[in-house]
Amino acid sequence: MLRAHTERLPQRAPAYGDRMANPTAPITYSDAEAENGHPPPDQDLVLVGATGDLARRKLLPALYEMSRSGMLPRHGQIIGYARTEPERGDFRALALAAVADGTREALDPAQVMRFVDRLQFVHAEAGALAEVQRRCTQDQRLIYLATPPGAYASIARELQEAGLADDARIVIEKPFGSDLDSARALDRELSAIVDESRLFRIDHYLGKETVRNILVFRFGNSLFERSWNRDAIDHVQLTVAEADGVERRGAFYEEVGALRDVMQNHLLQLLALLAMEPPGSFSADAVRAEQAKLLQAVQPMSPARFVRGQYTTGGHHSGYRDEPGVDPNSEAETYAAAEVRIDNWRWSGVPFYLRTGKRLARRVTELQVVFRSVPTSFFTGAGIAELPDNHLTIRIQPEQGISFNFAAKVPGPRVLVHPARMQYRYGAEDDAYERLLYDAMRGDQTLFVREDALEAAWRIVQPVLDAPPPLNFYPAASWGPSAADALIHPRAWHLH
Ligand code: BG6
Repeated sequence: MLRAHTERLPQRAPAYGDRMANPTAPITYSDAEAENGHPPPDQDLVLVGATGDLARRKLLPALYEMSRSGMLPRHGQIIGYARTEPERGDFRALALAAVADGTREALDPAQVMRFVDRLQFVHAEAGALAEVQRRCTQDQRLIYLATPPGAYASIARELQEAGLADDARIVIEKPFGSDLDSARALDRELSAIVDESRLFRIDHYLGKETVRNILVFRFGNSLFERSWNRDAIDHVQLTVAEADGVERRGAFYEEVGALRDVMQNHLLQLLALLAMEPPGSFSADAVRAEQAKLLQAVQPMSPARFVRGQYTTGGHHSGYRDEPGVDPNSEAETYAAAEVRIDNWRWSGVPFYLRTGKRLARRVTELQVVFRSVPTSFFTGAGIAELPDNHLTIRIQPEQGISFNFAAKVPGPRVLVHPARMQYRYGAEDDAYERLLYDAMRGDQTLFVREDALEAAWRIVQPVLDAPPPLNFYPAASWGPSAADALIHPRAWHLH
């Protein structure tokens, strides 16, 4: 009887207590929702640029998922606002098409209806912000500027004039400026309108589950943190490799290149989380203060220790200069690698190697912490010429997880040493935008870039922007230019 009854119970995620008893059970995203997914306070969301690329590809699918999993406020509208009207003026149809394209699971008609019910659209023309104001139903609001960055300051001013910016939280997307001076200028303009406590600068890498886990892994486990320093660590590698080329974004990419597109933001934010000191508490300010402090201790990059690359034809892919929207003599880099040094007690003398590129051999984002070799090896000749490095790998994507490589004895009568690996895998990839939108609605700024960290990141890359080293070419679908192997020599890239 009891058994039959239990079998009829709905499947539920194992509760935290169950998992403590069974730590090998996989952690799934629905667990997280069940355990910490309380809806944020009631509020309206104003989506500026609602018919644009970012809204369609990322934001609308993320909002649908949030609606489905109970992570949207119980009450509040989603008001799309854009200069370009949706086809036939039908924003709901546009949103549905975006959701169908971008959602992981099959759509549930009842959930779709619930989501669509919240959607409204106001065409951006003179005086239209007053209409947005009228359609807001809640006291609190979040305004997402999903527009070209050049428009941030002027839109913020318009919002202010229309009385919409008062007390609202405002979310903006990278790029925040194109160098140190322009980032400072943008900041001055925005800070006259929105207080830093209400400004949410999104770097979507900070919303990725395994990136968030870096803090838990480092500060929730005593084992590794004790050796997280120059005494034990030889060097660190951070790789953001993409298999895709520039796709339809050639014209945009011509302006930014890999250094501004990924290294100045995603890679330096990963570096900050990996290398920062433990914060005094887990409050947003305490965490962000440590991130800023770390970035402020990073020495400005040296053009002599920086490699710029550009892909040429390779496999069945065309070269960058043949991509639509790209100058046939373009000097933009699609690959960047840098050696970075951190000037503090913990990291003095430890090189950090950062690299990113388009059209590389495969899509993988990974952090590798390589520990020092053993001081003497009496195993020489024990089946391998050299003991493998101990290294810890934090895989951000795909197949998120953490693994640790070590040396083990091959079972048998003789002492033969063999590289072995312990591995922990997360489930499927999550969506960073869902988590970040949720945090912004709750007013939690922990995973958003603060002004001082942003400025420090621009200061780090500025010498290379001022004096870019010459380009090296690499065939599409390879691991980048050989100059990057020379940069890390006598060490070697673990992914190659
Ligand atoms: C964006 C860059 O910020 O990050 C893109 O502008 C890049 O060029 C993308 O492709 C990578 O993000 P993800 O989440 O796909 O690794």
